[in-house]
Amino acid sequence: MFHAINSKINKLVRNQIIYSANDDASSRKFRVELKKFNKVLLITGKSSYIKSGSQKLIQGLLQDSTITVFNEFDVNPDIDQIKLGSEVAKNINPDAIIAIGGGSVIDAAKIIHTMFSNDLDEKQIFESNQDQLYSLRPLIPLIAIPTTAGTGSESTHFAVLYKNNKKFSVGTRKMLPSIVYLDSDLCLSNSSYQNACSGFDALAQAIESYWSKNSNFISRYYSKKSIQLILENFDTMVSNPSKSYLSSMNMLNASNYAGKAINITKTTGPHALSYGITKSLSLPHGHAVALTLGAFFIMHNLLFDGQKKQLKKFKEIENFIFKQSGRKASEYLYEKMGEFKMEFDIKNLGLNEEKIESLIKEINLERMSNHPIKLNAMQLKQIFFLIPRKS
Ligand SMILES: [Fe+2]
Repeated sequence: MFHAINSKINKLVRNQIIYSANDDASSRKFRVELKKFNKVLLITGKSSYIKSGSQKLIQGLLQDSTITVFNEFDVNPDIDQIKLGSEVAKNINPDAIIAIGGGSVIDAAKIIHTMFSNDLDEKQIFESNQDQLYSLRPLIPLIAIPTTAGTGSESTHFAVLYKNNKKFSVGTRKMLPSIVYLDSDLCLSNSSYQNACSGFDALAQAIESYWSKNSNFISRYYSKKSIQLILENFDTMVSNPSKSYLSSMNMLNASNYAGKAINITKTTGPHALSYGITKSLSLPHGHAVALTLGAFFIMHNLLFDGQKKQLKKFKEIENFIFKQSGRKASEYLYEKMGEFKMEFDIKNLGLNEEKIESLIKEINLERMSNHPIKLNAMQLKQIFFLIPRKS
């Protein structure tokens, strides 16, 4: 049975090789792999490139290569900035693109890589979930090195970009990076709050993937592995960010598993609401996702009271993973937010009824369509009032 599961899983990820810095043999193979490339387009963040130790790592890895750096884009990359990156790629004609940074950096690189490799224009990139659009031109390798343990973007085939301040998710199977390198040293300069946000993003992705309409036994296998690792390592990574080498490595693996899980299922309700919350309150993505995650647990229990069949996946999450009831799982999540100094009281966050109503109007319908149950506007509004209040 296990052999069959593993072989199915291997087939699913056969297009991606993952190397790990905490395994000497794997790390050596990665270094040898990189020696093949003479001309590299390096896509990075601005200040984080030096602060995280990424610059030092890259200089050591690519001593004999010509490197062109592209970092002219914002945290939420705009299509015009992506087009500029694609032009840079065309001018230098690299034999590999390396993305080193957080989720937005890897997302930007995925789109630039796809545009460059397939000579796509702006219109085509927005239609890119139709794989037949792609030419037969061979792709150059895209190598992703995450510096946060959160988005799992290195193992998904879709990416977020913005046009006129509006968020779009684009994707095709060919967007999946071909090589990933996981190095927890690069996460050690992140602050406690950054780690809390990144970790909650990974946790929400794993949970949402588990209960998603699209989940299957493979995605649930990844979700469970991810959640278990997060629950064991989250506290250390937040309380002692600069010294948590082992916890950071485990959290990087956890976020990678969550990425693999949503690569199959995509995300659901908490993510669907989170984009508007980030825009309206300027909260980081992981904080915005965490805000409603616990309240969804309570809502599911309210709606499914007595309907055992539909409860199966929710109960599995609560019992197997949290070993608790939905209400307890919710309490656990908000307690964690409290411990990690992530504000969740909607009054303190300035979320009044009017703002909540506009968030619901702007909900990401594509993500919401993956949610396992249909929730009407009234129930979505109720989600916000199920978030505990501080007296
Ligand atoms: Fe996310």
